[in-house]
Amino acid sequence: MPIFIAKSFFFFLFFLLASCGTPPRLKSAALNKEDETKNYHPIGTTVSYVCRPGYERTELRPVMTCLENLTWSEAPECCRGKSCGIPKGPEHGRAVDVTNDLYGAKVNIICDDGFRLRGRTFIQCLLKGDQVEWSQPPTCQEITCSPPPNVTNGMHNGSNVKSFVYNSSVTYKCDHNFTLTGEASIHCTTKDNINGVWNGSAPECKGDCLFLSSSCS
Ligand SMILES: *[C@@H]1O[C@H](CO)[C@@H](O)[C@H](O)[C@H]1NC(C)=O
Ligand SMILES: *[C@@H]1O[C@H](CO)[C@@H](O)[C@H](O)[C@H]1NC(C)=O
Ligand SMILES: *[C@@H]1O[C@H](CO)[C@@H](O)[C@H](O)[C@H]1NC(C)=O
Ligand SMILES: *[C@@H]1O[C@H](CO)[C@@H](O)[C@H](O)[C@H]1NC(C)=O
Ligand SMILES: *[C@@H]1O[C@H](CO)[C@@H](O)[C@H](O)[C@H]1NC(C)=O
Ligand SMILES: *[C@@H]1O[C@H](CO)[C@@H](O)[C@H](O)[C@H]1NC(C)=O
Repeated sequence: MPIFIAKSFFFFLFFLLASCGTPPRLKSAALNKEDETKNYHPIGTTVSYVCRPGYERTELRPVMTCLENLTWSEAPECCRGKSCGIPKGPEHGRAVDVTNDLYGAKVNIICDDGFRLRGRTFIQCLLKGDQVEWSQPPTCQEITCSPPPNVTNGMHNGSNVKSFVYNSSVTYKCDHNFTLTGEASIHCTTKDNINGVWNGSAPECKGDCLFLSSSCS
């Protein structure tokens, strides 16, 4: 009998003093102010959480219970990242592989053909005040070529053009009595998607031997 009584007493004491440890720290939620100050969590008691900035409530109750084996019940998915909405790419560019638009998400940006990217290659769903929004996207600048070379005894049709954009072309024409050798047109292309280069050298205008012996070569 005394043994039984002693056992019961210790069980009673155990239940009285036993406490779960510090409640787990969650990425999406913080312990509420009141529960934060407590360090005695007997079996059966609960602590509640509030969503951190950038997160919002789901249907699940944001509470955890101290279980009989002195562990905390599993963390409910009580807070979810807020949505930044459909990401908008920059002008002449777009967002790719959008799998997630919630707080913290990263989305890659690529520029259209013929445009180069300036800035970060991604945008991120970030906190702004107590709301979330996409970070400033990079810009997509048109790839251009430097002015095409001039040729002696000839001209090209780009003399009035200020900016030679990707895919544009100029065509050379020789003066009277000069013949063109090489390709008449060159095209503005790019090899590295950053700088524009002409895809060939300018043609040459050679003197016509029949008429102009001085510039024969
Ligand atoms: C504690 O009890 C809960 C519920 O019965 C169980 O899911 C969990 O695995 C137990 N934890 C340990 C460490 O035994
Ligand atoms: C550039 O030219 C190529 C071939 O003519 C064409 O397929 C492509 O769509 C053009 N790109 C742009 C940006 O105009
Ligand atoms: C070609 O000649 C034009 C007119 O003389 C000049 O404005 C231009 O800068 C020249 N281009 C190059 C690449 O030298
Ligand atoms: C020059 O002429 C060619 C052929 O007509 C044309 O394709 C090209 O766009 C012209 N380039 C410019 C800069 O006007
Ligand atoms: C330059 O590019 C144009 C258009 O893609 C092509 O027709 C031409 O053959 C190219 N010239 C050279 C020298 O590669
Ligand atoms: C081209 O050669 C012919 C014949 O020699 C000459 O009459 C004409 O003036 C020349 N043209 C130019 C633009 O030099």
